[in-house]
This record gives sequence, structure tokens and C-alpha cells, in this order.
Amino acid sequence: MKNILFLFLLATFLTACANKEQPDNTATKETGVTNPIAPLNPNGDSELALLMRKMEKQWQDTKKNLEAGQTIHDVPDFHDLLTATPTDESMTMDGFKGYATSYLNKIKALQNTKGNQQKTAYNDIINGCILCHENSCSGPIPRIKKLLIKE
Ligand code: HEC
Repeated sequence: MKNILFLFLLATFLTACANKEQPDNTATKETGVTNPIAPLNPNGDSELALLMRKMEKQWQDTKKNLEAGQTIHDVPDFHDLLTATPTDESMTMDGFKGYATSYLNKIKALQNTKGNQQKTAYNDIINGCILCHENSCSGPIPRIKKLLIKE
């Protein structure tokens, strides 16, 4: 019985994350009926989801600059990660804070790195994204892997 409940929860959880890019999911989200806990933004996306897209955009730009041989000076601070409201509370359970903190520390490490080491420090950050996603929300992982710089 416990196993069934677990599978059910797991299925709901995985679907919530995997369906992110399908527009037909938006309608349900906007009604708020399936999701009374997390306050949603007017466009139906959670604070955390919006922050994720902002981070993705930021690292896409950083990747381009590093690949062009530039040195990164200003590294953004994504501390909102620790407080942003997720689509579903289950997404930020179990270890989320730990993964988030470790990811934020990797950003600081990039800030303190110079020259050729920056690419490695950058990839460390992206691996920090992937680590958390393996444990919280596996849907976007293929998308995140595109951010890695091939060395
Ligand atoms: C500490 C855990 C954690 C870290 C670190 C993390 N993510 Fe996420 N990510 C999540 C969770 C949880 C969601 C689901 C958010 C929601 O739906 O509210 C998510 C959602 C996403 C989404 C889907 C957003 C959407 O459109 O709905 C993308 C893309 C994404 N993350 C990319 C990234 C990238 C790129 C990084 C690193 C720069 C990253 N994530 C770091 C936990 C994390």
C-alpha cells in the first residue's frame, strides 16, 4: 500500500516537472485548483521557474563569453534561489537547500577564479544545476547539459 502511494506521489511529481514545456499544462496551473499551496504569478509560472529561466539565460551568455576567450568579471548573485516559491512544494523538499547553497558557492568560486580556470569553474556551476535537478526535477536536464562548455 505504501509503495503504491509512493509511486503515485512520484508520478505526480515527475509529471509536474516534465510537462513544463507543454503549453496545455498552463491552463490547469492558472486556475490554481491543482495547486492551491504555491502562489502563482499572473502568467502561470512560479517564481522559482522564472528564476530558473533567468539563470539559464545568464549562463548561456557567460558560456558565449568564455568560449570567445573573454574573462568574466561580474558574476550575478542568484540568492533568490533560497526563497523563490516553487510550482509545487514537493519540488523543494529533501536537500534542496543543500544543493542550492552548493550551487551558489560555485558561483562565488567562479568570481574568485581567473584566466583558464574560469571555464572549469563555470562547468562546476552547471554541474551544480544538474546535481539538484537529478534530485528534484529531471525534466530540464538535457536542456541544462547544453550549457556545459566542452573542454
Ligand atoms: C537547488 C536546486 C536547483 C538548482 C541548483 C537548479 N535548479 Fe532548475 N529547477 C529546480 C526546480 C525545483 C525546478 C522546478 C521549478 C518550478 O516548477 O517551480 C527547476 C526548474 C528549472 C527549469 C524549468 C523552468 C520552467 O520553465 O518551468 C529550468 C530550465 C531549469 N530549472 C534550469 C536550471 C539551470 C540552468 C540551473 C543552473 C544554472 C538550475 N536549473 C539550477 C531546481 C534547481
